[in-house]
Amino acid sequence: MIPDETEIERPQNPHGDAGSGDTRAKTVFIKSYGCQMNVYDSQRMADSLAPTGYVETSNPDEADLVILNTCHIREKAAEKVYSEIGRLRVARDERRRQGGDLKIAVAGCVAQAEGQEILRRAPAVDLVVGPQAYHRLPDLLAKADGTSKPVDTDFPVEDKFSILPPPRRDKTLARGPSAFVTVQEGCDKFCTFCVVPYTRGAETSRPVAAIVAEVERLAEAGVREISLLGQNVNAYHGEGPDGRAWTLGQLVHRLARIEPVVRLRYTTSHPRDMDDTLIEAHRDLPALMPFLHLPVQSGSDRILDVMNRKHTAAEYLKLIEKIRHVRPDMAFSSDFIVGFPGETDADFEATLRLIEEVTYVSAYSFKYSPRPGTPGAGMTDQVDEAVKAARLARLQALTEGQQKTFNQASIGRTMDVLFDRKGKRPGQIAGRTPYLQAVQIEADDSLIGTVAPVEITATGAWSLHGVLAGADLREAVA
Ligand code: 5AD
Ligand code: SF4
Repeated sequence: MIPDETEIERPQNPHGDAGSGDTRAKTVFIKSYGCQMNVYDSQRMADSLAPTGYVETSNPDEADLVILNTCHIREKAAEKVYSEIGRLRVARDERRRQGGDLKIAVAGCVAQAEGQEILRRAPAVDLVVGPQAYHRLPDLLAKADGTSKPVDTDFPVEDKFSILPPPRRDKTLARGPSAFVTVQEGCDKFCTFCVVPYTRGAETSRPVAAIVAEVERLAEAGVREISLLGQNVNAYHGEGPDGRAWTLGQLVHRLARIEPVVRLRYTTSHPRDMDDTLIEAHRDLPALMPFLHLPVQSGSDRILDVMNRKHTAAEYLKLIEKIRHVRPDMAFSSDFIVGFPGETDADFEATLRLIEEVTYVSAYSFKYSPRPGTPGAGMTDQVDEAVKAARLARLQALTEGQQKTFNQASIGRTMDVLFDRKGKRPGQIAGRTPYLQAVQIEADDSLIGTVAPVEITATGAWSLHGVLAGADLREAVA
C-alpha cells in the first residue's frame, strides 16, 4: 500500500436521505487511517450500513456512530487511535448530558491486532471489528447495546466480499471517477519488520468474475480509473473463468476490455512477484498507467536479507531496467525504511546509491518502528532514534529533490489528465497525470470525469498548473 500517516476523512454523500420526523436517519462518520485498502474498506462498511438506515456524514459532531478504521503498521499510526478515542469519549459524555448518545467502533488492523485489549485500554469503545468481518458489522452493531461490547476478529470461512452489498449508483458517482477495488488481501512474505501477515492474514485473491462485475458496475456509474489493491497485489492468483488461477497480468488484460475504464493501476507490488505477463502488460495495454509503486525498503543486500525480502539490490535494479525496457516512460515510487536493526552507515549509503540509480518520482520513507510480534522487534541491534532521524532527513532530501526535478521537467510537456474534482479556486478543476501528479487548470466543471491533454506550464508547492492542449478534447487513453 502507499501509506499515508495522515488520516483521510471521507466526503459526505450529498445524495444521502436524511429522513424526516422523529424517525431521523442515523448517521455514521468513518475515519480512515493508513493505506488505500482502508479507504476502500471504509466505503464498503458505509455500503453495508446503508440498508440498516445509516447515512454517512462528514461531520463527526453530528454522527450517531463513529467508526475508526485503523492502521497498525507503525507505532505512531496505532497510537493515534487511542488519542482519537479519548476525544470521542469527551464528546460522547457531553452528548449524554444532553440526552443523546454516540457509539464508537474500532475497525481495521489495530482492531485485528489488539482485539479485546482495546476494550480494556479504552472502555468507551462499543465494538471492535477486524478487517475480515466487516460484512457482520450490522449484526455487531445491533448487539452493541452498551452492556454487551462485541469483538469480532475472526478470519471467517465465508468471503466478506461476496456478502457485502455493492454501493448504490449515486454513491459511486459521489465518490468520483477514480475508484479502488480490492482484488487481493493478506501476505505470505513475512518481511521481518511487518505486521501485515498477522493483521491481514494469509494471501487470498478474489475470483476474476467478481472483480469484473464490480469494475463493470463502477464503469457504468462513470468511474474511469481503477486502482487494484492488495497488500501483495502482484501475487494475485484468483480463480479465472476457466477454473484456473489467473495472474495479475491476465486480470489486467481482462479489465482493459471494459472500455469506459481508461486507466488501470495496481498497488502494492513485491519485486519478487513481477512476472513477465505483468511486465509485458505495461507494453501492450495503453490503459495500464506507466507508473509503478515498487517498494525496495533498503539498498543493502545484508539488510534486505535480514528483512527477509528475498531479493538483492542488483536483482531489483535489473527488474527496473526490464520494465523500463518494455515501457521507456515508466516511472517508479518506493517505500524505504531507515534504521532497521543492524543498519550501519555503509548499509544506509547503499540505499542512497540505489535511489540515485533508480531516480524515483515519489517515495515514502519511515524510521523503523519495532512492532510487537514481528521478528525485527526482538533483534538486539536496534538503531538509535537520533541516527534514524538523521538518516531519514538525508534520504528524504534526496527523494524530494528527485521528485522536484521530475515535476520541473514536466513543464512544457503535454500529459493526459483525469479530472476528478473542483480546483482550489472558483473556475478551476483538478486532476492527476499518469504519474499521479496533481494538476490544476482553469476549465469548466463539465470536464470532471473525463481525460484531456494538458500542457503543463508551471509547478506550484503541491500541484502542477497547466492549460488544455488544443480544442480537441477527448476521453483519451492516457
Ligand atoms: N517500521 C517502519 N516502516 C514500516 N513499514 C512497514 N512496517 C514498518 C515498520 N515496522 C513501511 C514499509 C512498507 C510500508 C507500507 O510501511 O516501508 O512498505
Ligand atoms: Fe509486509 Fe513484506 Fe508482506 Fe509487504 S511483502 S505486506 S512489507 S510482509
